[in-house]
Amino acid sequence: MTVCTITLELDGAAPKGGRAHCCAAGGEIPAGWIAAEGPLPALKVGDRLAGEGAEFTVLSLGWLPGGGATASRRSCLLEPLADVAPGRYACAAERKGYALAWITLSDKGAAGKRTDESGPLIGEMAAGRLDLRLVQGFIIPDEPSRLKALLVELALGQGFDLVMTTGGTGVGPRDITPEATLAVIEKRLPGYERAMTGASLAKTPHGAISRAVAGTLGEALIVNMPGSPKAVAECLEPLLPTLRHTLEKLQGDPSDCAILRK
Ligand code: MTE
Repeated sequence: MTVCTITLELDGAAPKGGRAHCCAAGGEIPAGWIAAEGPLPALKVGDRLAGEGAEFTVLSLGWLPGGGATASRRSCLLEPLADVAPGRYACAAERKGYALAWITLSDKGAAGKRTDESGPLIGEMAAGRLDLRLVQGFIIPDEPSRLKALLVELALGQGFDLVMTTGGTGVGPRDITPEATLAVIEKRLPGYERAMTGASLAKTPHGAISRAVAGTLGEALIVNMPGSPKAVAECLEPLLPTLRHTLEKLQGDPSDCAILRK
């Protein structure tokens, strides 16, 4: 799908595999940065900007700070997919597949005291079922403000389609994932929660302890899962068949479900 067109102006070469900063034109451009004309806010992470002689992936979206009374401007970090020579390029922004972010909630993991297997497993399992244009992982401590800020940033700021958390769904003093998620989601998905609980109870009575929440924020689907790799595998399995259809509907697919699919 073509999202929009953006013209990029490079005053220097951008080597393949490197990192290139880009900001909206219409003000001073920092040395070595790329000036962009067009709707940068329409971009999502993982979009591909392609024009004749230029090809980039959008790695992240941000702001170039203004100063005093000057407004900040949208910016993005790009990865050149081939060497790009200095010049002006009219690029189409193409979006293919979905961008997934996993977030591991773990005080020990965030402090580097535990290797995280659960987050990467989410990426692997989802990639087996969905066409993913990008997978990015995050490990943060069990702190509600950090989680709320990250969920909002990934869903609304960066444009991730799927944000899946692991850990912090139980009843321990530091387990805050469901409360932080409830504070930011717009539409709750009780069916997702029931599917996870049902699959969990079929494996272990401890499945009753997880309070995992699922819901939507903007065009993103957010799903909590318990913390162990075993629990991730068991909870994600029953959701995999419906992820794509959920995302299609969430992102505005008007088709009639009655004639659509099994
Ligand atoms: N769900 C499944 N499917 N499999 C599991 O092994 N473990 C349970 C539960 N849910 C488990 C599960 C246990 S032991 C706990 S304490 C809770 O999830 C909460 O886990 P969390 O705090 O790591 O999120």
